[in-house]
Amino acid sequence: MSEAEGDSKASESESAAATGDSSTQEKGAGEEAEQMEYFRRLFARTLGLSQEREAAEAEEETPRPQQLLDEVTVEGIAKYIRDGKCRNIIVLTGAGISTSAGIPDFRSPGTGLYDNLQKYNLPSPQAIFEIGFFKPTWCHYFIKLLSLKGLLLRNFTQNIDTLERVAGVPAGAMVEAHGTFYTAHCLGECRKEYTQEWVKEKVFNDEVPRCPECDGVVKPDIVFFGEAMPAKFFPSVLADFPRCDLLIVMGTSLQVQPFASLVDRVPETCPRLLINREKCGQVDPIMRMLGFGGGMEFDSENNYRDVAWLGDCDDGCKALAELLGWKEELEELVNKEHARIEAQIEEDKKTAAKRVPAEGQAVAAAGGSTEGASAAASPDSSRQESTAATADSKDKVAPTSEKTREGKPDSPQADVSPTPGTDGVETKSSGDDPETSEKGSSNL
Ligand code: OAD
Ligand code: ZN
Repeated sequence: MSEAEGDSKASESESAAATGDSSTQEKGAGEEAEQMEYFRRLFARTLGLSQEREAAEAEEETPRPQQLLDEVTVEGIAKYIRDGKCRNIIVLTGAGISTSAGIPDFRSPGTGLYDNLQKYNLPSPQAIFEIGFFKPTWCHYFIKLLSLKGLLLRNFTQNIDTLERVAGVPAGAMVEAHGTFYTAHCLGECRKEYTQEWVKEKVFNDEVPRCPECDGVVKPDIVFFGEAMPAKFFPSVLADFPRCDLLIVMGTSLQVQPFASLVDRVPETCPRLLINREKCGQVDPIMRMLGFGGGMEFDSENNYRDVAWLGDCDDGCKALAELLGWKEELEELVNKEHARIEAQIEEDKKTAAKRVPAEGQAVAAAGGSTEGASAAASPDSSRQESTAATADSKDKVAPTSEKTREGKPDSPQADVSPTPGTDGVETKSSGDDPETSEKGSSNL
């Protein structure tokens, strides 16, 4: 031992003797080390140093939760279901599950709505209300099949096209997170609920839907950017996600909050399957360390639960159904239901032709347009100019309790929570003012 070391040891024991309490000293040293580590990380982070090493260290430090899958593949997921280890499946869906029905999604380059606002081709503006015009896809029927098998805990959908309902997914098993065309509400004094049929009737007669009770405008129950989430959303998140033992995410870019962060709400052990054309929902490792949600970890060395099946959702559902031994059942369901809907469409066309022959022809001759569809969906003609503003509305927060366009204090929906996003669910603030947010909100 060198002299200097000897001195230092002596002074350490002296100071220990002076306090007369070695545990106090250990505690002090521990705190100091903790502080040092804190500052080291802070500097590293601030200066952008050794981020990869830190992320790797963080992964090493965290003990890996139990792996429930025999193998982290779609086969492993199928086996997990087949073995009966999984009774509560939550399915998160987005516009990608309806594209094969002919409804464009929002963000796909080239084909997405934000790239093609002018080209959205419906046979007529009113077709947005002709739910029969769009047939649910294999994906929708796969969800229905999960429900028939008693495995569907909940389908949280961002879609407003109501195709889940058309496919027969029970309303109680669904949370339509961004609202729905299925119902509408008066924006005036009375806030009365109206059916899609009622609104459709008005639109077909070229009338702005107005409430007979108070003359307020009646708007479909769609949640626009800047509006509150449906009241059912947050309670369902809290009740369902802790019970979830398999999360299936399909056809969404997971770009809109708070929906996107739902993937972090399942238990740590819960396997997560993404069926999509591209990977999504991954969080930068540093952001994860800073507490911005875990995100999907398909490519992490320590991945023990996240599976990405890349391709078309319908094919993904067919592949999973096959692995589960449900292929014929799914096929039968799809064929039977599609035949039924086609017959219904024919029937509806005949009825509509009888009801408003001249008007129907005039509209068809003029051709459909996005603006027309939007105007039909919302009687407020300012919707038409607003659609263009949606192009860059990535990463926006759907819900807030901000005012509606008409300046009403809350969303027109009777079932809308007045203070959404305040239960701790992460909401990425876009910093939009309510006006801009809302203008960027037209869905169709
Ligand atoms: P996006 O358009 O953002 O994402 C659709 C995702 O599905 C993309 O990752 C596509 O690659 C993928 N996709 C498209 N067709 C597919 C197919 N046939 N098979 C597999 N994958 C396919 O749509 P959402 O994530 O649903 O919100 O958008 C979320 C929200 O943004 C919407 O609900 C809407 C919008 O602004 C509001 O209006 C409040
Ligand atoms: Zn009213």
